[in-house]
Amino acid sequence: MCGIVGYIGYREAYPIIIKGLKRLEYRGYDSAGIMLYNGKNLQIAKTKGKVSDLESKSSDIAQSAATIGMGHTRWATHGVPNDINSHPHVSNSGNLVIIHNGIIENYEPLKKELLNRGYTFSSDTDTEVLINLIEEVKKNEKLKLGKAVQVALNQVVGAYAICVFDKENPDEIVVARLGSPLAIGVGENEFFIASDASPFIEYTSNAIYLEDEEMAIVRLHKPLKIRKIKDDSLVDPYIQELQMNLEQIEKGGYDHFMLKEIYEQPNVIKDTYRGRLHANSGIVQMAGVEDNLEKFLHAQRILIVACGTSWHAGLVAEYIIEEFTRIPVEVEYASEFRYRNPIINPNDVVIAISQSGETADTLAAIKLAKEKGAFVFGVCNVVGSSISRETHAGAYTHAGPEIGVASTKAFTTQITVLTMIALRLAKAKGTLSNSDFYRYLQELEVIPEKVHEALESNEKAKEIAAKFKDAPNCLYLGRGYNFPVALEGALKLKEISYIHAEGYPAAEMKHGPIALIDEQMPVVVIAPKQGHYDKVVSNIQEIKSRSGKIIAVVTKGDVQVKELADHVIEIPETSDALSPLITTIPLQLLSYHIAVMRGCNVDQPRNLAKSVTVE
Ligand code: M6R
Repeated sequence: MCGIVGYIGYREAYPIIIKGLKRLEYRGYDSAGIMLYNGKNLQIAKTKGKVSDLESKSSDIAQSAATIGMGHTRWATHGVPNDINSHPHVSNSGNLVIIHNGIIENYEPLKKELLNRGYTFSSDTDTEVLINLIEEVKKNEKLKLGKAVQVALNQVVGAYAICVFDKENPDEIVVARLGSPLAIGVGENEFFIASDASPFIEYTSNAIYLEDEEMAIVRLHKPLKIRKIKDDSLVDPYIQELQMNLEQIEKGGYDHFMLKEIYEQPNVIKDTYRGRLHANSGIVQMAGVEDNLEKFLHAQRILIVACGTSWHAGLVAEYIIEEFTRIPVEVEYASEFRYRNPIINPNDVVIAISQSGETADTLAAIKLAKEKGAFVFGVCNVVGSSISRETHAGAYTHAGPEIGVASTKAFTTQITVLTMIALRLAKAKGTLSNSDFYRYLQELEVIPEKVHEALESNEKAKEIAAKFKDAPNCLYLGRGYNFPVALEGALKLKEISYIHAEGYPAAEMKHGPIALIDEQMPVVVIAPKQGHYDKVVSNIQEIKSRSGKIIAVVTKGDVQVKELADHVIEIPETSDALSPLITTIPLQLLSYHIAVMRGCNVDQPRNLAKSVTVE
């Protein structure tokens, strides 16, 4: 969590840093700060609140001619969000400045030691401890900044992506990473530093992604040297050409990124299967799967690890993979898996799903699975992310940047990739009949059109949203493939509208949640024609007889549920297995409109951040 931006070059640093921070606000947005160096003085502004608050608070330095500086947008870990705890933090001498994304776990003993040596602290943060530790090392051992950072980091336990500046040596910024992402944009006579490439996309398409335990001294007119923090060995910088473009990270006329991303789904699902799926020729292939087909085919079990929405996509995949391939699948929250000494066999295949590719718990689960000898396959969206590099092989979802904190297109593109994996394995194992195999391929190929059709439910979703926007609670029910969609619908609602919502397998309702039902309780029921329709109809009747308000997602032309439900949203017909790709669309729209009507900040809901790089 937290976004960091740095600049060193010939342009005015202030506007670059502020714009960059706005693009990184998805990573955290409870406070923000900036440091510029104008050749004489440090110019620092920081505040609780968003980058727009920082802009208002830093108008006195907005015209600064400084061509070096750095900025931070925060998601608090140590210390409440307030002006003092905001980054940057300055060392006791007033010379060293730091911005930090991550957590220093052993900051307490380090702080104690520094207090004994006479250091004082104004904030509650671990970051202020780190900058003073660097200062102490620099002073004591008479080191240059780069070396002092390296020595200090070797005493630190935790995660970090940092930029450090020294007023006494003002033509360089020292950067380092462990567990939190850090990209360096390489321009002509200028460098950009950021948590991802979005802050510098319009200036350069050349980026270096630091690996864990690497650091660099970024200096003008000097070749960039990357070193290993532990043993000081040099690493050859690998410059990647960026695939992202500016248009992808702007709202493109939509009020919110979330809405834009919901509407992008027909296109991005196509991008996900482009070149991988040729229905008429019976081809479904992905390089990462082809290269490791034997491992998949000999897997005694597939373990899926993920968090949040990606975990829900994993649950959908469990149903699909087991049905299509008969390989047993288990889905685990990465955060539980990593700490419960799980049984992992060398012939297990572990699939890690993550939009950002940076989720700390998923990353840790991958490392654990690798230690135990399993083959780990990643399904990620962000190219070059930590998870995509840490896994043995993988497949990108190609959804393009997802900026809204609530995942939408990530979910449907993850399901698309996982369905293709299931189909490929089923073909190799012969566990699907030829006709079913071709039918699914063909159906997957036309899913984008069906998603497009499902998006036509927008007005209906808005109408229903207006009726239920003040509800304090909401239940989501689904069966089979649509049980995970019920969980996902509830997560979408709670995270952006702050309405308490729960997802349940529809039949579980009578084992407890039914007690909640009265005339105040909206119940969203996913009831497409395929699947366990009759059973869901019975569940709807049970709700009806207890006066619950039913909002049903039904297949176009449905008659039975229409008669029972208070409101219906129609979607196009699909096979049961592929229905989550469609049924989820109206639920995304419903939560979006409810959140907008409640005046919530849809793209940046409270207390959240887009990528959770702390455990
Ligand atoms: O980047 P990841 O897919 O690993 O992120 C996992 C979760 O943090 C994420 O899905 C989160 O639950 C979203 N806010 C859900 O909309």
